[in-house]
Amino acid sequence: MTGPLFETMYETFYNLAGPPFHNTPNSRFFFETEQHKEALAKLEYTVRNRRGFALITGDIGSGKTTLSRTLISRLGQDAKTAVINNTRVSSQQLLELIASEFGIENSVAGDKVKLLTSIKQFVTHQHTMDRAVVVIIDEGQCLTIDEFEEIRLLTNLETEAHKLVQLLILGQPELRQTLRHPRLAPLIQRIVMYMHLKPMSFEDMTRYIAFRLVRASKGRPNVDFSREALRMIYARSEGVPRVVNLVCDNALLVGYSRNTQMVDSQVVDAAITQMLPNLDLESTDQFGEVGGPAADMLEEELDHGRRL
Ligand SMILES: Nc1ncnc2c1ncn2[C@@H]1O[C@H](COP(=O)(O)OP(=O)(O)OP(=O)(O)O)[C@@H](O)[C@H]1O
Ligand SMILES: [Mg+2]
Repeated sequence: MTGPLFETMYETFYNLAGPPFHNTPNSRFFFETEQHKEALAKLEYTVRNRRGFALITGDIGSGKTTLSRTLISRLGQDAKTAVINNTRVSSQQLLELIASEFGIENSVAGDKVKLLTSIKQFVTHQHTMDRAVVVIIDEGQCLTIDEFEEIRLLTNLETEAHKLVQLLILGQPELRQTLRHPRLAPLIQRIVMYMHLKPMSFEDMTRYIAFRLVRASKGRPNVDFSREALRMIYARSEGVPRVVNLVCDNALLVGYSRNTQMVDSQVVDAAITQMLPNLDLESTDQFGEVGGPAADMLEEELDHGRRL
C-alpha cells in the first residue's frame, strides 16, 4: 500500500479532512497554550508599537518557528517580514539575505554601504506607509558574534519615538550563551521582550491533542484517547509538541490498522515501540552556570524584558 493512500484511509476512518499531527509549523494549527498565547501577544505588541527587539528561546520542538509563523500571519498586510533560517552565512551575506527577503534589488550586493543605504530607504518608505518592518532570525543559536553585531546596525534605524526595524530572534537555549559575550552588550540592552518556551503541561497537551483533531476534522473527529493513553503520551513526549505529534500520528496509524477508534494504552504502547528510541538528548540549557559581568547584565536585561 502506498503512503498517501494509507494516509487518506486513516483520515477517512477517523472522519478527518487532513493529517492532524503533521510536524510542520502551520499557523492554522497553532494552539494557544498559556505561554504560547502570552508570547504571541507580547510579540505582536512589540511589533505594533515599534518597540524594537524581542528574543524567544526554547528547547528543540517547543514551538518557536510555529510561533513566528503565526505572528506573521497575524500581522498580515501591516508588516513586511524577512525570515532568515539559513544562518550559516557570512555577516555580509546576512545583510544581503535580509535585503533580498524584502525584495530589495540585488545590484547593491557586495557593497555594504550601498546595501545599508538601500535597506534604510526601504525601511523609511515602509514607515511612511505605516507598515512595520520585521526581521525574524530563526535558529539564532547558529549565529556568530560577528553576525549579531551586523544585525545591530539594523536596530540603529530609528526615529525619535520608534524603532524602525523590529527584530525577533528565536533560538535554542544555548543562544543565551552567545548573547552573554561582552561585545554584544549594546545589543542585549535593546531587548524589550524575552520569553523562554517550556514544554506543555499535561492539561495543555490534552487540550492540544483535542484541538488538532478538531482542526483537522470534517466536523467531529471519530476518535477517542483514553486517560491512560494520554498519560503515556505525556511520559514519552515530556510535553514537547513535536514529539506529541509523532506519538499521536503513530498511535492513529496503529488504531487504524487494528480497526479501533479508541486510542488506549495498548495502542499507544505499540505506537511508542515503533518509534525511534529516546536518544536521551541532554538538555543544552546551561543558563546560570556561567558567571561574569556580561552574564549578570544579560540576566538583568532579560528580567527587564519579562516586565514588558
Ligand atoms: N502552539 C502550537 N500549536 C500547534 N502546534 C505546535 C505548537 N507548538 C509547536 N507545535 C508543533 O510542534 C512542531 C514543532 O514546533 P516548531 O517547529 O515550531 O519548534 P521549534 O521550537 O521551532 O523547534 P526547533 O528548535 O527544532 O527549530 C511543529 O511542527 C508544530 O506542528
Ligand atoms: Mg524551529
